[in-house]
Amino acid sequence: MYKDIIQFIREIYNEDSKFIPLHEPRFIGNEKKYVLDAIESTFVSSVGEYVDKFEKMMCDITGAKYAIATVNGTNSLHLALLLAGVENEDEVLTQSLTFIATANAISYANATPHFVDVDKETLGLSPSKLKSYLKEIAEVREGKCYNKFTGKRIAACVPMHTFGLPLYIDELVSVCNEYHIPVVEDAAESLGSTYKDKHTGTFGLLGVFSFNGNKTVTAGGGGAIITNDETIAKRAKHLSTQAKKTHKWEYEHDAIGYNYRMPNLNAALACGQLEQLDNYIENKRALSDLYAKFLKDNQYLELVREVKHSKSNYWLNAVILKDRSERDNFLEYTNDNNVMTRPIWSLMNKLEMFKKCPKSNLSNAEWLEDRVVNITSSVRVK
Ligand SMILES: Cc1ncc(COP(=O)(O)O)c(C=O)c1O
Repeated sequence: MYKDIIQFIREIYNEDSKFIPLHEPRFIGNEKKYVLDAIESTFVSSVGEYVDKFEKMMCDITGAKYAIATVNGTNSLHLALLLAGVENEDEVLTQSLTFIATANAISYANATPHFVDVDKETLGLSPSKLKSYLKEIAEVREGKCYNKFTGKRIAACVPMHTFGLPLYIDELVSVCNEYHIPVVEDAAESLGSTYKDKHTGTFGLLGVFSFNGNKTVTAGGGGAIITNDETIAKRAKHLSTQAKKTHKWEYEHDAIGYNYRMPNLNAALACGQLEQLDNYIENKRALSDLYAKFLKDNQYLELVREVKHSKSNYWLNAVILKDRSERDNFLEYTNDNNVMTRPIWSLMNKLEMFKKCPKSNLSNAEWLEDRVVNITSSVRVK
């Protein structure tokens, strides 16, 4: 019964028999030219004109006032949490249905991830569930939010726009504002995705992006932090360059900093890729429309689509199967037939290192964990 979709994917990718990956990068613009240029300039490391250009492009694309280029999305998240004021022993709210980097970054900040449920239609952190949960467990004292049961401060909330699908981010930010909880948006997967015409990553205090090789556009490896707060932006740049004070020759450092700046070589590749972003998103949205048309009356596979007021980059298309056993059948059939598919992540709270972390009822996340599978989503060039 899954033969049709395999045939359909092979047709739309013009690929008769070869292995079809889930998502592969495309380099069809100025990427090689810019990378060569960076090499010839000898500025291959963390200072160079492509880093500046990349940061400017990120501001133009997202509408954020400031962008800071970093080595990857995971360390961007780590730094963003510190910049939001997360300290040792704090709790940080996030969704249990996310990629491991979200929870890892919280741990790097010596804080405890506190897992909350998602909405079934956005696959992202649920504002309504968060609201009722906070009502039950949280209290605000002197402008700070505390978990009544653990006594710990709830220092931040990290919602994640899953597969590029915007979650109900404006509602989520208002819930967090009510409880004085700063929001760090994990927009690693959602470059180019908007909610109510505003770019994801710009609703909270800080937003974070990834330019890993599997993303809509790539730097090879890379990340970015965006914010509208000038003080935070300056601090981000400072901390990501070993907290070195500006001086012509002295080594003076005023904090424990990090080597988190994106090298110019990667920025050159990223600039070439960012020039293609609009193209790629148009291509990806057309692909999702094709899937939607093809799967319209399919009784086994339901395509996940963007919710009202949102525009997804459709980084990875996702389908929902009837139950876990159907999910496994589908995964086996497609992968056996050389068309790569992959299940959504295991819930963070089930992993050994996060088993003891506090959590809300996670019924939606559990339901989705059993059913969601990603299907072929690369930009089609042939
Ligand atoms: C949701 C999410 N957060 C964070 C990251 C981390 O990004 P990176 O791989 O650039 O460290 C990724 C992707 O890899 C991601 O999908």
